[in-house]
Amino acid sequence: MEAYIPIPTAELPLEKIYDFSVFLIRGAEYVLFREGNLPMESAVVSRLRENGTEHVFIHARDYGKYAAAFVQDQPLKPGVNPLARYCQEQFVPVSRTALQEGWTLPITLYRLHKGAPVPTAAPNLPGVEKRILPAHRSKAYKLLIRKQDLAAFQAFLQAQLAQQATYDPLNATGGTLLRESMKLAAYGAYDTDEPAKGREAAEAAIAQTLPIILNNRDSCYGLLMGDQDNFHTLTHAVNVSVLSMGLGAYKNLPDADLAVLGLGALLHDVGRRILDPTDMFEMIEANPAWHEEVVEHPEVGARFCVEQAGLDHQVAQIVAQHHECPNGEGFPAGLRNEGLPLLSRIVAFMEVYDSLTSQTGKRDAMTPFKALGAMRKMGDKVDQALLTDFVRSLGES
Ligand SMILES: [Fe+2]
Ligand SMILES: [Fe+2]
Repeated sequence: MEAYIPIPTAELPLEKIYDFSVFLIRGAEYVLFREGNLPMESAVVSRLRENGTEHVFIHARDYGKYAAAFVQDQPLKPGVNPLARYCQEQFVPVSRTALQEGWTLPITLYRLHKGAPVPTAAPNLPGVEKRILPAHRSKAYKLLIRKQDLAAFQAFLQAQLAQQATYDPLNATGGTLLRESMKLAAYGAYDTDEPAKGREAAEAAIAQTLPIILNNRDSCYGLLMGDQDNFHTLTHAVNVSVLSMGLGAYKNLPDADLAVLGLGALLHDVGRRILDPTDMFEMIEANPAWHEEVVEHPEVGARFCVEQAGLDHQVAQIVAQHHECPNGEGFPAGLRNEGLPLLSRIVAFMEVYDSLTSQTGKRDAMTPFKALGAMRKMGDKVDQALLTDFVRSLGES
């Protein structure tokens, strides 16, 4: 099957000659709309827009031509596959495990076919069918939604959560839904072009997750995310947030502090996104050393939180201090434990723990047991009192 990629109708350059064909989708069929080498008249495109046609399609093999002719303002770096970049800029991956058979989605869900997004489930297509669910495909089978559909998809997932009368975060479906909803919130918050929306999504996700952690602290460890969807930065952000709230709850911190802790932890690496906006999908995998090397990212992130997202200074302080180290060897300020507030110490601690238990380009993931042993051996590079609390919290419920 030929791979097609969607171009939003609103973005079509008008009164230009396209040297490739343009297609429309009718049901599940692609039909020719405009032969190559004909002008794209504005009258025709306005009619399309009036009809509510949101996308036209071009052959994936023509995307290079399209980008070269019409996307000049963002020249391609040599060696960058234009199609891969298009996917990164326009789409967000979603976990197949978050979906349930029979759902009718309010938005279009795409699957990757030969590197190009192809609509696979939508209101006017079949709903979520068995064939796209995890048991039926290999791990490499990716699903995507358009970035602009993020809020609608998240609202849909939250509605599904609310509808489950016997909702249990410990069961596989409930846990996955909650995790996916949190990851999408993190995606929104890390899309730094829309700080207010991102903040709202992140706050809603923390407000939803915190009661679950408070009611059953153990269940929070069931919310941790694996990296099956190759989405490391956000996976890491969600994990650090869930782990931090769990440890905070064990230490009986007041609810208000736990919410600040969860939010600061979820946003802690937002500065990386600002410093390197090109590669949201595979940041850690592509360059595992980046995380430690770019020493400005905590401060850049903290400034973003206050100035752009309008978040509380306490949240920003956590972001600013997440790479500080008890012995004063951390960055950017080199503060020692005595100078660090508890919330920052918790997030800095979980930063280390989640890095050790995650796979990076450098090394395999450690089991939690091994990671805890390694952290004990790290001596004053890790807050040993928090390590003791964390180990106890794992053993008690
Ligand atoms: Fe970081
Ligand atoms: Fe981090």
